[in-house]
Amino acid sequence: MSEILRIRGGVPLNGDAYVSGSKNAAVALIPAALLGSSPSTIENLPDIDDVYCLMRILRWLGADVTFERGVMRIDPSGVTRNNPPYEMVSRMRASYYLVPTLAGRLGSAEVPMPGGCDIGNRPIDQTIKGLTSLGLRVNTEGGIIRAEKTPAFGGNEVFLAMPSVGATINTMLAAVSAPGKTYIHNAAKEPHIVDTANFLSSMGARIKGAGTDVIRITGGLPLHGSTYTVIPDQIETGTLMIAAAATRGDVTLHGTIPTHMESLTAKLLEMGVYVTDEDDVIRVRASGNLRPVTLRTQVYPGFPTDLQQPLTAMLTVAWGTSYITENIFENRFRYVDELRRMGADIKVFDRTAVVQGVEKLHASSITATDLRAGAAMIVAALMTEGTSDISGVQYIMRGYEHIDEKLRRLGADARYIG
Ligand code: EPU
Repeated sequence: MSEILRIRGGVPLNGDAYVSGSKNAAVALIPAALLGSSPSTIENLPDIDDVYCLMRILRWLGADVTFERGVMRIDPSGVTRNNPPYEMVSRMRASYYLVPTLAGRLGSAEVPMPGGCDIGNRPIDQTIKGLTSLGLRVNTEGGIIRAEKTPAFGGNEVFLAMPSVGATINTMLAAVSAPGKTYIHNAAKEPHIVDTANFLSSMGARIKGAGTDVIRITGGLPLHGSTYTVIPDQIETGTLMIAAAATRGDVTLHGTIPTHMESLTAKLLEMGVYVTDEDDVIRVRASGNLRPVTLRTQVYPGFPTDLQQPLTAMLTVAWGTSYITENIFENRFRYVDELRRMGADIKVFDRTAVVQGVEKLHASSITATDLRAGAAMIVAALMTEGTSDISGVQYIMRGYEHIDEKLRRLGADARYIG
């Protein structure tokens, strides 16, 4: 297992890259396949640790799963266990998508509390609210989410206190099994919400309004397996767009959905970066000085919190002062200490980072403190002359498919070692 991602930076990225399938859609679709009465085939899955982790969990539960060249075939007919072990689920956030899918299939589920990146408190009260509104009895004593169908299991009106991605997906996954009509109000609208709804629809579910504030579901219909292709990864696309601009390169990204990238594209244009798109292709070019920006992370279609970290890395060398406000996760500035080690001038006041652009960063040994902090370290190392060793690569491998190879194809000197 590699321990370090070594990058010799200072070289503009140039050429073509192909975007992988979406991590955050993949981790919802794989558990969703448990709801089918027959096997599902999911295509374009990224070759990342989170996908392997879910594959191992599904096998442990009794599913027959194969995964080759981005295609996973899941036959859930042998699933008899409802209680995946702590060691398997604690590594990732999305393991709690097994709660509604196992309860839907087997009547009950016992899933240890989810793990995932340490970027804030990450409560699950809205998921519990959604599931209990649909007539599941839920308790979380002893760090285990226990959910069980009651005679009241059925559709209902669910009002989320905030448009939580996890709560929206969990409620949708429960609602497709719950007889009657469910309305999820104040639903999250991220691209992976729509992808999850589309996959469930392809399995026979009736879902309207995904991608808007209210999702309407007619539950209790029989669901069968389906063949489905995952959407491109919005955050990988954004990370590569930022890396291209940060190195003053010229990169053409293929297999993207440009509309998912509009909030980032707007910020890059404001910074003086050239961004053009046509069909599923985005081209990013930059040269000269970058202008500073003010930005606030928001739920989709606002600027995604997952791109706050790599964009901040790029702003450390912008020509002036940038103000970055993180509205989604309270603890998503831990990585700025690492950027400071490289010479960045960043002060954090509560939820706002004030980034005073410096002429250049210097190469250093740095640590990825979570997945997207890893993206920030990659961007910083790519735009800095000299050799930077990034540790904490297990986070990067959780979510970025063969990022070392992709960067090498763009002319960077990047490789996993150790
Ligand atoms: N929140 C609550 N109560 C809840 C749920 C959420 O207060 O019951 C709060 C959270 O504390 C947070 C905010 O609502 O402040 C947003 O949380 P959300 O539930 O939307 O996030 P998530 O489902 O835990 C997903 C992605 C994250 C991404 C966020 C925001 C997956 C597996 N994870 O997390 O992705 O940052 O949405 O878009 O889809 C990543 O890919 O690196 C990553 C962390």
